[in-house]
Amino acid sequence: PRLDVAKIKGIMLQKLSCENWERIWSFQAQPDDLLIATYPKAGTTWIQEIVDMVIHGGDPAMCQRAPIHLRHPFIELRCPNIPSGLELAEAMPPPRILKTHLPVQLLPPSFWEKDCKIIYVARNAKDNLVSYYHFQQMNRALPHPGTWAQYFEKFLAGEVPWGPWHDHVKDWWEAREHQRILYLFYEDMKKDPAHEIQKVMTFLEKDLGEDAKEKIIGHTSFQAMKENPMTNYCALPWFDHSVSPFIRKGTVGDWKTHFTVEQNERFDEDYRTKMVGTSLNFCNEL
Ligand code: A3P
Repeated sequence: PRLDVAKIKGIMLQKLSCENWERIWSFQAQPDDLLIATYPKAGTTWIQEIVDMVIHGGDPAMCQRAPIHLRHPFIELRCPNIPSGLELAEAMPPPRILKTHLPVQLLPPSFWEKDCKIIYVARNAKDNLVSYYHFQQMNRALPHPGTWAQYFEKFLAGEVPWGPWHDHVKDWWEAREHQRILYLFYEDMKKDPAHEIQKVMTFLEKDLGEDAKEKIIGHTSFQAMKENPMTNYCALPWFDHSVSPFIRKGTVGDWKTHFTVEQNERFDEDYRTKMVGTSLNFCNEL
């Protein structure tokens, strides 16, 4: 059995989150909270581990203190048999690192009011879709994705948990104009992790130097995170890793092994319409 979904202001979320929406919306962020915001499957866990390493001076032992979902409360998450994001956040001493997948318009207003720093990671739409398809297969807390062809249509229609990808990445891009947001791309992190980690250090005012940077790159590599029980979600009861591991492939361009030629054309046409007028650019022919 899978958990249900429902909608808040037209955006599909877990039903349990919707039932608790008043409390999520009135969440009290603190000025020293750091928020990690992403569309699901854009590289959330990866940036979380990088940020934790940077905050703790590049000391991996500090990141091994607890599994990642307990270190960084996922504010809108409410799932049976695990502590809710709000419970975890409220019990946590400052400075907190918090996680969300909410689109801009659903972010609790206290994050804007308190001028919290935010790190957003975006991933190209096609790989993001493929990763989400595999994730919805293995995560029993979300609806089953159906066939690949069915899921492809749902993604284009924005009928997936946390709503349409296109609005999510565009609206967070615009939000940079009025908030302290470091906007990163998964593809850049793959291509030049040292460069992107430096940006995180600068943004967090934690310049640790080259040795620490090398340590962070090693500790947060795909293979290291896949093998690390504190980052691979091996203990989360809702995930069935025999269906698909949480840390699955970690590559750029995996969409090419999934999309048909027709799907690719349809996707590109839809993409052009939805992304018209934004200055946000992804490199899509990967
Ligand atoms: P794939 O399904 O394409 O493999 P999120 O943490 O937002 O749920 O994103 C999960 C995606 O990020 C998965 O993508 C996962 O493999 C990838 N990922 C996790 N850790 C990574 C790392 N250290 N390097 C590269 N990709 C990583």
